[in-house]
Amino acid sequence: MKKNILIGICGGIASYKICELVRLLIKDDFKVKVMMTESATKFITPLVFQTLSGNPVYLDMFCSIKKENIEHINLSDWAQICVIAPATANTISKIACGISDNLLTTVVCALSENIPVLIAPAMNENMWKNPIIKANIAKLKKLKKYIILDPVKGRLACGKYGDGRLAEPIDIYKKIRELSFK
Ligand SMILES: Cc1cc2nc3c(=O)[nH]c(=O)nc-3n(C[C@H](O)[C@H](O)[C@H](O)COP(=O)(O)O)c2cc1C
Repeated sequence: MKKNILIGICGGIASYKICELVRLLIKDDFKVKVMMTESATKFITPLVFQTLSGNPVYLDMFCSIKKENIEHINLSDWAQICVIAPATANTISKIACGISDNLLTTVVCALSENIPVLIAPAMNENMWKNPIIKANIAKLKKLKKYIILDPVKGRLACGKYGDGRLAEPIDIYKKIRELSFK
């Protein structure tokens, strides 16, 4: 039985690449649910991921108040592997500090200890080299739960060539497959 993959999408230009990741996972019979930060919805519409994943896209922590169950607890209980891609400097830093001020960061904070969180950062090279971001990444790397798929060198959205480009969707998919056998 293929695992449940919960993908958290942040507000970066690379968010469109997650369409391909969702497609690869669905093709391989993984069950996929997507949550997006508010910034992510400025780059790509939730409807795309709803259609590709065949599930509703989760955006808001406070929309489930009328329901019997609490959304962020449901999602963190459902997830068997959590993937944050593209992971912004902002969300990485929040996760590293345990800040839970939106649905995505709250779900990550509420995940059970044994659920791996694969983080695929994507950002401008200066952001990636910023010592504060580096320290936050190093903090997460020290914890077994968080696996960082380092960004690669290449042409960045800002037009420059450098470090900070999101790992290719196929490589994120391969890493998820590898984690799913553990
Ligand atoms: C056009 C554009 C592209 C951006 N790309 C990135 C990016 O690749 N990585 C990043 O860390 N932030 C990027 N940002 C900044 C984030 O969107 C911003 O920090 C936001 O607060 C992130 O929110 P989130 O972490 O809740 O998704 C970009 C902003 C704009 C306007």
